[in-house]
Amino acid sequence: MPNVGQRPGRRVFIETYGCQMNLADSELMGGVLSTRGYTAAPNHEEADVILINTCAVRERAEERVFGRLSYLLRFKNERPEVILGVTGCMAERLREVITERAPYVDLVIGPDAYRRLPELLEQCQESDADPVIDVKLDREETYKGLQPERRPGISGWVTVQRGCDKFCTFCIVPFVRGRERGVAPEEILAQCRDMAARGYKEVTLLGQTVNSYRHEDTDFADLLEEVVKIEGIERVRFTSPYPTDFTPKLIATMAKHDKICNYLHLPLQSGSDQTLETMKRLYTSEEFFKLVDDIRQAIPDIAMSTDIIVGFPGETDEDYQKTVDALERIRFDFGYLFKYSERDGTFASRKLPDTLDEATKGSRLAALIKRQEAISAEIFKGRIGSTVRVMVEGESRRDANDLCGRSDDFKMTVFPRPADRELKPGDFVNVRITDATSHTLLGEIID
Ligand code: 5AD
Repeated sequence: MPNVGQRPGRRVFIETYGCQMNLADSELMGGVLSTRGYTAAPNHEEADVILINTCAVRERAEERVFGRLSYLLRFKNERPEVILGVTGCMAERLREVITERAPYVDLVIGPDAYRRLPELLEQCQESDADPVIDVKLDREETYKGLQPERRPGISGWVTVQRGCDKFCTFCIVPFVRGRERGVAPEEILAQCRDMAARGYKEVTLLGQTVNSYRHEDTDFADLLEEVVKIEGIERVRFTSPYPTDFTPKLIATMAKHDKICNYLHLPLQSGSDQTLETMKRLYTSEEFFKLVDDIRQAIPDIAMSTDIIVGFPGETDEDYQKTVDALERIRFDFGYLFKYSERDGTFASRKLPDTLDEATKGSRLAALIKRQEAISAEIFKGRIGSTVRVMVEGESRRDANDLCGRSDDFKMTVFPRPADRELKPGDFVNVRITDATSHTLLGEIID
C-alpha cells in the first residue's frame, strides 16, 4: 500500500442510516480508510473522524440525521478538531441545506466519491473554512479493486449493482445514486471467495434492482450460478429484485440450488393498477400475482416479504382496498409498509400533488399494518410443529441462555443454548418449532 497521506492513529467512527446498501457502503469507506492508516473507533466519543452515512428515501430518515447532527454539534463544540462528515444519499440531495442547517459539518460527499475519501479528509484538515464537498455522480464508478472492511461474523454483503434506472415516480434513489451499473462478475466472485476464506458462510448480493443486474454477457441468474459454486458459502441471498425483471431463468436457478435461500423480498408498492401506473411501476397487479404464483410453483416453500406505500397521490379508498386485497391474496410473511413521503426532485413531487391528508394516510397505514401483523402471526404460528434448519448467529438479545439465528426462509428463530455442546456462529442446527410470534419462531434443537 502506498504510504501517501497515511496518518497512523486516526480513528474513524461511521454511523449508518437506511438500507443494506448503505451498510455495505459504510464497510467500503471503512476499507478505503483502513488502507490509509485509519482504525475503527468504537464510538463517536473516541473518534477523530465521524462520518454519518445517510438515507434520503423518506423525510423521516432525513429528520433523524438532522437530529443526530445537532446532537453531534455539542460534541464538536467541545472537540472542534474532530472532522464531521455527511456521506451518501442525503449528501447528494441536500448539500446546500446541510451547509445551511448544519454549517459545522466539515465534509459532504455523495455515494460515488468514497474512493477519494482519504484525500477529501486531508483537505478538511488543511482548510478550516468552508466544508469540503464532493457530490459528483459517476456513471462508471463500481469501486473495483477496493476491499470493504466487513463487520466480523458469518454473514456479509456484496454490492453487485449501483444506481438505478427505473425512475419510479415517488423515488429519490436514481437522483442521489445515479445510473445503474453492474459490478464486474470477477470482482463480485473475488469478494465472495475472500469472504469464504475468512469464514463467512452467508452472502447477500445487493442492488437497487438487483435482478436487473447485467455486466457484458452476464445476467443475474448467471451470476448466482457462479456464486453458489464457491465452497464455504452455504447460503446466498439477494435484495431487492424488481418484479418485471424476474425472468423464468432466474426462477429456475433459484429452484435448482439449495444454497439460494427460500426467501424473496419482492416490492409490490400498491395493489391498485391505477396507482401502480402513476408510480410508474411497470406491472399490473395481475402480472405481479402471476409472478408470485410462478415463483411459488417452482419453489413451494419460499417465504416472501414486500414493500408497500400507502397514501400515494390520487390513492382513493378503492385503490387502498385493492392493496389490502393484494396482501390478503398473496399473504407475504412480512411487510415493510410506509406512508408516502414527497421527495423534492422526483416526478411525483413535480407533477402529482400530495393530495391526501396525514390523518387519512395514517389510518390507512395503521389498518394495513394491523392486517399484515395478523397474517404474519398466522404464517409464523403455522410453523409450530415443523422443523427448520437454522444458521446460528449468536446469543439471543433477550436472554443469554438462548441462541438465535435465521431459518433458510429468513425467520428469526430463538432456542435454548444446548447444555451438551458449544455452538458457534455459522453452525447449523435443526430446530423444532414449539411457539411463534408474528416476527419470531421459538423452538428447541433436535440435532
Ligand atoms: N415515500 C414512501 N416510501 C418510499 N419508498 C421509496 N420512496 C418512498 C417515498 N417517497 C419505499 C418503497 C421502497 C422502499 C425502500 O422505500 O416502498 O421499496
